[in-house]
Amino acid sequence: MKGKFITFEGCEGSGKSTQIRLLCEYLEKNNIPYISTREPGGSKVAERIRTVILDADNAEMCDECEALLYAAAREQHLKDIVIPALNDGKLVVCDRYIDSSLAYQGAARGLGTEFIKSINSHAMESYPPDLTVFLNISPEAAFSRKHGADMNDRMERQGLDFHMKVYDGYIRLLKSYKRIRPVDCGGSKFETHGKIIALLKSEGIIN
Ligand code: TYD
Repeated sequence: MKGKFITFEGCEGSGKSTQIRLLCEYLEKNNIPYISTREPGGSKVAERIRTVILDADNAEMCDECEALLYAAAREQHLKDIVIPALNDGKLVVCDRYIDSSLAYQGAARGLGTEFIKSINSHAMESYPPDLTVFLNISPEAAFSRKHGADMNDRMERQGLDFHMKVYDGYIRLLKSYKRIRPVDCGGSKFETHGKIIALLKSEGIIN
């Protein structure tokens, strides 16, 4: 039996890691077979690509190279981690996926949707998520919550303008893809967790 594939998306500091951790605790407690993984990375080769992408020393990396590296890491991660777990009937919980490329490289870097779709066509067409949770909080609110950006991270150190474009990109994606569901995360982490569990139940991802 094929498992289900859910992804988490949101701006830096939206609380994805915390929400994924709380969800995993819930899945554990309820004996639901799952794996939790992340992009870029999640397997040996993909983690190596991640190091190259996020290294602040690689300041001269061009936008197209960046987009292609994310797509390359995605393919490797799909083959190493996601597809085997889905074939085992597990629920796959993935921190970021294709929508990050559409929002960060397509919208904020300005490479456009068509280019991103073309270099990610296999992942988009053969392995679309069953559901995507978008943690909806503006970059301004998110950065103030996490007390500023990590300056050693090549993506995080981009200015607020860049992250506003990412956010606008996500808001546009919400209109194009019904599988992307916004969850307001302005309240406490437990309130947000409750909303996510209710959503996964109402969409038939968990019972
Ligand atoms: P990470 O430290 O995992 O950030 P976060 O905790 O916010 O997910 O770094 C991943 C960075 O890579 C993050 O800035 C978003 C960015 N990214 C893209 O720009 N495009 C992509 O396709 C993916 C998967 C991530």
